[in-house]
Amino acid sequence: MLKPRPSIVNLGPYHSPIVSRSGLSLDLNESMAGCSPRVLARLRLLSAADLSLYPEREIGERQIANFLGIAPEQVLVTNGMDEALSLLFTAYLDPGDELLFADPTFVMYPMLGEALAANVVRVRSGEDLVLPVSDLLAHISPHTRVIAIANPNNPTGLAATRADLLKIAEAAPDAAVLVDEAYFEFGGESLITDLARHPNLFVARTFSKAYGLAGLRLGVLTGAAAQIDYLRRLSLPFNVNSVVLACLEEALADQPFVREHAAQIKQGREQLTQLFAELRLRFWPSQTNFVLVRIGPLAKAFMESMRRRGILVRDSSANPGCEGCVRVTVGTPSQMEGALRAIREAIAETRR
Ligand SMILES: Cc1ncc(COP(=O)(O)O)c(C=O)c1O
Repeated sequence: MLKPRPSIVNLGPYHSPIVSRSGLSLDLNESMAGCSPRVLARLRLLSAADLSLYPEREIGERQIANFLGIAPEQVLVTNGMDEALSLLFTAYLDPGDELLFADPTFVMYPMLGEALAANVVRVRSGEDLVLPVSDLLAHISPHTRVIAIANPNNPTGLAATRADLLKIAEAAPDAAVLVDEAYFEFGGESLITDLARHPNLFVARTFSKAYGLAGLRLGVLTGAAAQIDYLRRLSLPFNVNSVVLACLEEALADQPFVREHAAQIKQGREQLTQLFAELRLRFWPSQTNFVLVRIGPLAKAFMESMRRRGILVRDSSANPGCEGCVRVTVGTPSQMEGALRAIREAIAETRR
């Protein structure tokens, strides 16, 4: 019988991250504020040729390079950041090579590493869930080929310092060190300006979060021109669609929209953390558009109670160190009113 590679046969079954769309989705860290009206206006002007011709991603790469203040040769646009991760891991990990990261973190890292038959080396954060820098440094070996760090991190919301991340990049000159800045617009320090001095450093960004374009799928991988050149050879030439490329200029130009959205997110996460403190729940101070909170053994009952109130939140219990934890995406100010009330009621109900 036909079988794929053993590493593919051994992968766990696929489950869509989307559990349901009935109710308010505070479970996937999407933007609840939608996208810039300027992007929508551009979408409405799309012509038949915009759709019938193959996309020219190079135009988008120049726009992004200009926005980030780096050279176009340092930028590869991708079908969401997920594709950037897949390309990067595929380019540097042979079977048996080490992929190093600290738990808890973004679930795609181990999934991709396992699919490539890499040796997945997981370092465990302490109870504070802070990036265990010295432990990571201690686990760098001659076999380490990729180190992946989400900064700020998902699902914790915590950010590491630029100095610590650079320490890791400098300690592993023969490894690709990826700093995943999916939530950069909501907090934390960027390492984009450090690319020039660190030829093994990669920084990835996405338009799925602060720009509210998760459905259009646009990610960005930046790094040393020589490394991005290799990744460009591996990537499919038409990986990014012409609809998102047509909208990109407006999305980048409307920084007031991004800033206003980020300000609302900060306010919303303040409200969430205040409520969690009042309810005597353990939470982690977030620099992202979500907050991780420990509900405890009643987490499942809490989530079910929230679902009955029309709000979906994410079960993070499967992430190492996050047992009994739930991740709540920050909604718009009006959604937050309902969400805060629902959390209060659901906690009271589960504690009864
Ligand atoms: C840390 C992190 N990296 C990458 C991604 C993937 O983003 P994209 O929608 O661009 O594929 C996510 C999405 O939730 C994320 O949380």
